[in-house]
Amino acid sequence: MAVRRAKKRTSTDRNRGESGEQNEMSTELHDLFLEELADIHNAEQQLTKALPKLAKAAQNPELREAFETHLEETQNHISRLEQVAKSLGESIKRKKCAAMEGLVEEGEEIIDELEDSAALDAGLILAAQKVEHYEIASYGGLRAWAQLMGHDEAVDLLQETLDEEKLADEKLNQIAENAANQEARQE
Ligand SMILES: [Fe+2]
Ligand SMILES: [Fe+2]
Repeated sequence: MAVRRAKKRTSTDRNRGESGEQNEMSTELHDLFLEELADIHNAEQQLTKALPKLAKAAQNPELREAFETHLEETQNHISRLEQVAKSLGESIKRKKCAAMEGLVEEGEEIIDELEDSAALDAGLILAAQKVEHYEIASYGGLRAWAQLMGHDEAVDLLQETLDEEKLADEKLNQIAENAANQEARQE
């Protein structure tokens, strides 16, 4: 995008004036919004396949339950994204989220490498928190853009999911703290 912004202005560009620029900006932002919507939609889909694996690997029952609960929430996140697209009269494009692919791979590595380790849960929590932070960034950005473009229904839907992602992240913090405290008491 930086390249595009740096392009030389032609006289038609100049004549088009400010409102023309605003139109161009809103069309481009609209397209970018749809791209990112497709990206996070695919990320959530990948996550529905990864979360059962994380739940299965978790040693702590509280952690396992958190993964299972978040799987249900994730399914809602997918349908909410479809509602967002619908509220704009659009549908969700096909796209592969490369970031989620990498994050899921890291989670799988942890499961393989820490299989018999006492640090397995700690590793799973970190892997899941990386995912949550990626999602929080995406939903935060999308929500801000929806607001900028005046798509109120989309703002509400994205906010709902953003709140759930933040809660999921806090829950993981809590579980990590509880586990650390328990261990300290046992020593
Ligand atoms: Fe999600
Ligand atoms: Fe999530």
